[in-house]
Amino acid sequence: MDLAARFAALDSWLAQHASVWRARPFVEHRLPWEQGWPQLAHWLRQQSLAHAEQAHTRLDLLDAPDPFARLHSEAQALSRMPDWRASVPDNLPEALSRHMPGRKWQQVQRFAQVTQAQLQSSPVHWLDWCAGKGHLGRVLAWQGGQPLTCLEIDPLLGEQGVALSQSLGVDARHLQADVLDPAAWALLQPDQHVLALHACGQLHMTLLQQAVAHDCAAVALSPCCYNRIATSNYQPLSAEGRAARLQLSRVDLGLPLQSTHTAGQRSRRLRDQSMAWRLAFDLWQREARGVDSYLPTPSRPESALSRGMPAFCRDLANYHQLHLPEPTDWPALEQRGWQRLAEVRNLELVQGLFQRPLEIWLLLDRALFMQQAGYQVQLGTFCPSALTPRNLLLLAERNSAPLTPSL
Ligand SMILES: C[S@@+](CC[C@H](N)C(=O)[O-])C[C@H]1O[C@@H](n2cnc3c(N)ncnc32)[C@H](O)[C@@H]1O
Repeated sequence: MDLAARFAALDSWLAQHASVWRARPFVEHRLPWEQGWPQLAHWLRQQSLAHAEQAHTRLDLLDAPDPFARLHSEAQALSRMPDWRASVPDNLPEALSRHMPGRKWQQVQRFAQVTQAQLQSSPVHWLDWCAGKGHLGRVLAWQGGQPLTCLEIDPLLGEQGVALSQSLGVDARHLQADVLDPAAWALLQPDQHVLALHACGQLHMTLLQQAVAHDCAAVALSPCCYNRIATSNYQPLSAEGRAARLQLSRVDLGLPLQSTHTAGQRSRRLRDQSMAWRLAFDLWQREARGVDSYLPTPSRPESALSRGMPAFCRDLANYHQLHLPEPTDWPALEQRGWQRLAEVRNLELVQGLFQRPLEIWLLLDRALFMQQAGYQVQLGTFCPSALTPRNLLLLAERNSAPLTPSL
């Protein structure tokens, strides 16, 4: 894979369509792209909520008007990644899966097996970055007999990790550490293979920078929460990223995370209800104020839904210190909220086409940074997206042995 060429192609495609994927159907009643593609917009606005629910995981099957299919095939071509998940058996002993929910165990198992299969170098010491209880590091250290260091900020998780590592006879240190603190970076050593399963934005970007600075032997990273960064705009890591046409805000970085593949039925139902009521509030406030603009609606606890839709909307009006005339017909307003939700969800299918390409752009920025720092980089998927939509894996191995200081 020519990383720079892939990055350049993605950068120009995403920049060309930025007004399409930046449009926010939840916030804007008319989207900038609708004028150019009126048939597509009209068709999507006619579809039901159930349609959007089914379609969003299978955009390839959607028989939508132009240019949906063209954009889909362009997105597919630009996002293609080696599929490593088929190449490994799921045959690790059950004892290793203790204290892990089933889905987490499958992710850990696949990550560990794929990493073992793809690595060219021989690990001598594993370091698990933002380790939680250290499940991933423990599996690899148990398999290969190497020592393990786990860095985790939550002392309780560390304590549980100690007990689990002892019970399996793994030579592990579970250290309480804030990986954003330079004191933790001193724990990185040239002989380490560093692992990070689902470390959030700033946490994994810091890992890559510090792994390079400390000349670590290898990094195996599956990134998540790209938008959890310390700055309001994305600061690319690679030279290509810094020279790119795309300039990303923190809101942009949230796009790849919008996928809800793995949410359960109950949480989807509650999420839909809350969204439909927010949209009903939005219609009410625009009409009652006579101002056609969106007002942000802060998140509310699940219990807010049990007090009924009028109370939910009044609460949002209070939040904005608005004294609005009450709607004459609350059930009719609620109905319109649900209708808006169906339109929003179907219009969001267009945005959905860009989620993976944007995620791959971010992954390539990380990969190019490691390549420029003298690492050999491989990219692929370690598990099916049904297990976790964050299924990308970056493997970076230092090209040559580090220089040892002369005595
Ligand atoms: C999504 S979890 C992933 C845990 C583990 N890698 C796994 O897959 O099971 C992220 C972990 O990062 C830890 N964390 C968050 N901020 C941290 C920080 N500044 N330093 C170290 N760990 C941190 C959290 O406590 C949490 O355990």
